[in-house]
Amino acid sequence: MIQKPKGTYDVYGKYGKNLLYLRDLIQALMEKYHYQYIRTPMFESSELYHRGVGETTDIVSKETYDFLDRGDRKMTLRPEGTAGVVRSFIENKMYGEASQPIKCWYYGPMYRYERPQSGRFREFYQFGVEVFGTDDPLADAEVISIPVNLYKLLGLKGIKVNINTLGDMESRKQYREVLLDYFKPHLDCLCEDCKKRYATNPLRILDCKVDKDLDIMKNAPKISDYLNDISKTHFDKVKKYLEAMNIEYTVDESLVRGLDYYTHTVFEVEASVEGFGSQNVLCGGGRYDSLVETIGGPKTAGVGFATGIERLMTALEYEKKLPGNLDNLDIYIIPMRDNEKEYSLNLLNMLRMNGFSSEMDMLNRGIKSNFKQADRLNSKYVIIIGENEISSNILTIKNNQTKDEFKVSIDELITFFDENIEDSEE
Ligand code: HAM
Repeated sequence: MIQKPKGTYDVYGKYGKNLLYLRDLIQALMEKYHYQYIRTPMFESSELYHRGVGETTDIVSKETYDFLDRGDRKMTLRPEGTAGVVRSFIENKMYGEASQPIKCWYYGPMYRYERPQSGRFREFYQFGVEVFGTDDPLADAEVISIPVNLYKLLGLKGIKVNINTLGDMESRKQYREVLLDYFKPHLDCLCEDCKKRYATNPLRILDCKVDKDLDIMKNAPKISDYLNDISKTHFDKVKKYLEAMNIEYTVDESLVRGLDYYTHTVFEVEASVEGFGSQNVLCGGGRYDSLVETIGGPKTAGVGFATGIERLMTALEYEKKLPGNLDNLDIYIIPMRDNEKEYSLNLLNMLRMNGFSSEMDMLNRGIKSNFKQADRLNSKYVIIIGENEISSNILTIKNNQTKDEFKVSIDELITFFDENIEDSEE
């Protein structure tokens, strides 16, 4: 049997319904925040990610799905959303729009060739936002508030916001030099990955999971001692604005994040869900004031975040925060015999077009087994169509919960359901 590729999964049944519930909630929240929806291609030219995400990052150096298309162009399945959105921002000249800043959100699949494990897939979905055109710390705080409010709305508890600053380019450069000097005599003690990071991106040594308990890591110089005034002020304001929204946070100076483009604020949000395991980071993000320029646009500030949908779904499953029985049908129609199928189908069509979720038997079940099916579907009403109903156009409608019966003429049917079924979406 042909099986799905490693690190991917199928969506169907209850999980599918729950995913749509989550996506709808995200969309509704984004409307409240007044962010625009953006969708960019699932593949882009490989160069975009080399320039955008960074040559030295794990994502680009080890995890991309690269291919040559039939015209011999180097393409990459997107490993994350930011670079593509920045490309679109530049290509569509959004920086020239009258209404600034540009705030957008996206939801879609990303691809990373990682070792599959719990919470880590090769095809996974992200919901993310990007804000362009403001370097005000207000935007950093607003972006951080989005996942926090989303997780709150979903009912998750034990949410922990970790923040740090990498400073502006000047501070970051100075700190990089300090780190190079500091780690130079200790290179032999570091893991192989960190030895490479020393040459390519020394900041990333700080969030090494292998070396994290070494004394040289604990005693490493702190970024906070090398921030210039602009960087310090920016970070202080972000913290102040988070406090204004009553968002609790912890400053974690080892948080540097795995992508090259960040400046100033970086953050991650964890959920401490019992039994959730090590992949408890639900989202990550930060500010990237040089990325638009790096990708070829005009100098434009940016800030954003992305949350993994699978991890969020797992947290919601553990915390039992997903809707229980999602199957709820308004009306189930039972044609008694073959002769009544056309009339029933016409009725079914009319009910659906008037906004009622409806189904009809398509397996020629007997009446008992049809009522069982109506129960399985959690149907509010059942209509049985026989010869008499068709000749009189008076239908018998059964309330499937109370078992009360009503005689309603076909002309009155929609009014009847309008009055008795409150909201077919509920
Ligand atoms: P990231 O930290 O690489 O950041 O990914 C964000 C989130 O995507 C993670 O916190 C995690 O929930 C989820 N995620 C990442 N890799 C996997 C995987 N293999 N399987 C399942 N979930 C995964 C970014 O992607 C940045 N573009 C975020 C950003 C937007 N920064 C600024 N704007």
